[in-house]
Amino acid sequence: MQRTRVAEILSSEKIGTRFTVMGWVRTRRDSKGGFSFIELNDGSCLDGIQLIADQGLPNYKDEILKLTTGCSIKAVGELAKSPGKGQNVELQAQEIEVLGWVDPEVYPLQKKRHSFEFLRTIAHLRPRTNTFGAVARVRNAMSQAIHSFFQERGFIYIHTPIITGSDCEGAGEMFKVTTFDLDQVPKKGSNTDFGQDFFGGPANLTVSGQLEAEIYALAMGDVYTFGPTFRAEDSNTSRHLAEFWMVEPEMAFCDLEGNMALAEEFLKYIFAYVLDSCKGDMDFFNRFIDPSVIKTLEGLVSQDFEYLTYTEGIDTLLKSKQQFEFPVVWGSDLQSEHERYLCEKVFGRPIILVDYPKEIKSFYMKVNKDGKTVRAMDVLVPKIGEIIGGSQREDDYDTLFERIKEAGLNPDDYWWYLELRKFGSVPHSGFGLGFERLIQFVTGLSNIRDVIPFPRTPGNVSF
Ligand code: 4AD
Repeated sequence: MQRTRVAEILSSEKIGTRFTVMGWVRTRRDSKGGFSFIELNDGSCLDGIQLIADQGLPNYKDEILKLTTGCSIKAVGELAKSPGKGQNVELQAQEIEVLGWVDPEVYPLQKKRHSFEFLRTIAHLRPRTNTFGAVARVRNAMSQAIHSFFQERGFIYIHTPIITGSDCEGAGEMFKVTTFDLDQVPKKGSNTDFGQDFFGGPANLTVSGQLEAEIYALAMGDVYTFGPTFRAEDSNTSRHLAEFWMVEPEMAFCDLEGNMALAEEFLKYIFAYVLDSCKGDMDFFNRFIDPSVIKTLEGLVSQDFEYLTYTEGIDTLLKSKQQFEFPVVWGSDLQSEHERYLCEKVFGRPIILVDYPKEIKSFYMKVNKDGKTVRAMDVLVPKIGEIIGGSQREDDYDTLFERIKEAGLNPDDYWWYLELRKFGSVPHSGFGLGFERLIQFVTGLSNIRDVIPFPRTPGNVSF
């Protein structure tokens, strides 16, 4: 089935050329002059193409006049300049074939604007709306930008495993992977006998590809991984998913300062890429979702991020006299309200906070000379809060061994990770960017469930 995509036709504007298009009807309007206007969208771009269907078409009365929103059609016609408002060109149809009908009484997508809550209940149809089509195209462009950024800089793309035997964050928020019949789990005494399970031991879905990326960084220098990650945390918020995508670069011979510089350069590259390559979709978000998205992104591309320590951040919050729901105390994690206050009200730009208390950060982060803080960095952006978490990694065997024990983990489970510090250890750093949070930031969509095709959240895994 040969066809030309609407995006290609609209950008080429080859007047007088015969094209075949296929897609879904958005609207049909009938004119008194004996012809109909059909707005056809094929998902290749936000705009549809206008078809002019004349009553002279053999199926005009029996089929064309019955077309409703959602019907799929094939149309062959000649491209002409459009005399009407709203489009430069239109296709004067010489043939229209209906591929699939829709019963308008039961088709859930109508011309009116539907709520995002409602659209989440029809994840199989929502990509046909303007918003979800635009999100899918921007998500695609951002994925491309991520690979281009790292490939242009000589990073090697590593496919880290989805199923893993280790807990990267040491937080125990992992989904278990098993083939056991859950009604008859084999026991050894009172414990589960994982020896009889598929992998011969406990296995989980990964929370991060970092530890495996470190293995490759300590052989190949600069690497990155970009894939799905899973967290069984019961956080029902507009920023949390149980399944989300993470981008994780890992660099050998790199300290925290190099890590911060890369994170800033990386975010600016993605913003510039999207502004340049997704103009139609970004205009749509700016018009209908958040009237500040384009200006914000343009500003960020040319603005330096603010760098400060966690301790300075806490001091700034304490001095602000602002009332927060959660108290501000040195030693506890910053809440999203604190992060947003710093970004939005104090600095008015993204900030990178470094040197967090070691008690609230993961075991693998390099301990500072003060013995109290670690070389952690969080990148915080307005409206979202934390978008990137990273650190310089602990590269000293003895310190790491102690940190694993302090975190209540078993060093035997991390024997290979420890060995990397025994055999040719080097300073190295990396970070993890939550891909969906970045898409939220770029599109202005306030709920993370609307920037991933099939959101998985506590109590929700529809299909
Ligand atoms: O800060 P996190 O937990 O860092 C790590 O996993 C490190 N191992 C990364 C590394 O250094 N290679 O997570 C990184 C980012 C967060 O900043 C956030 O943007 C996103 O992942 N994230 C989530 N996004 C959506 N839903 C969730 N439940 C998320 N948890 C973290």
